[in-house]
Amino acid sequence: MLTLPELLDFFWTDYVWLAPDARRIHSLLSERGETVVNDHVAIRTFDLPPISLESLARPFEALGYLPVRDYDFPEKRLHARSFVHSDATNPRVFISELQTHRFPAGLRDIARRLAAQVPTGREGSALLFTELPTWAPVPLATYRQLLGESEYAGWLSAFGIRVNHFTVSWNALTSFASLEELNDWLAANGFRMNESGGRVKGSPAVLLEQSSTLAGRIAWTFGGGARETIPGCYYEFARRYPDPATGKLYDGFVAKSADKIFESTDAELQGSE
Ligand code: NI
Repeated sequence: MLTLPELLDFFWTDYVWLAPDARRIHSLLSERGETVVNDHVAIRTFDLPPISLESLARPFEALGYLPVRDYDFPEKRLHARSFVHSDATNPRVFISELQTHRFPAGLRDIARRLAAQVPTGREGSALLFTELPTWAPVPLATYRQLLGESEYAGWLSAFGIRVNHFTVSWNALTSFASLEELNDWLAANGFRMNESGGRVKGSPAVLLEQSSTLAGRIAWTFGGGARETIPGCYYEFARRYPDPATGKLYDGFVAKSADKIFESTDAELQGSE
């Protein structure tokens, strides 16, 4: 079984392949003298066995993670749960699942056929993450059909179970006075930011501020060998405020902000290219 550092290394290596901007930003921050600490990693899935949220949570729980809270995103038909590790230097984990039963039969049937390709013996195992690809490449037409119903479903069908984003902890940085200052520096370095709902989502009042880049576009191979340039993964940034209830930094998430952050992989927000 992988140790937690091994699993996180695996995630990072896989993720920067789908988020070349994240590797560049990480390097730029290091050159500035910063040490990058991850606030959280986020993973997407369908609410179907053997890849449901509950199943994906088990390897993390076996590595010392505990659930914190559940979240609902009714408009996007998503359910999510956040986890923290007893050693707070480890990133929080945020797992969301698409509630396929709330979609028409077309999407539901495709999601079921994808999930059915995953061996049931992998339920609750880290093999769900490390055995890639999760399923055979979907035809481009299937990807487009899903995108029409749910941007999240389209992304998941193309990429399978993998980390959707890493998140830089603003609190662990030393040279930016605010999250806005970090965002301005990223924009000045040529990175395109998600402006949906404003560049900064959240506020000190809800104890969490977040921002993100727009997912870079990457060339992807679909079933039958068709190549298409589609949104990959984005990089996120989070500033946490002390929780008056505990005196420690707030550990939760803010559904309204996450709702906007989910749109960072939306091709329509990015304009046509
Ligand atoms: Ni996030």
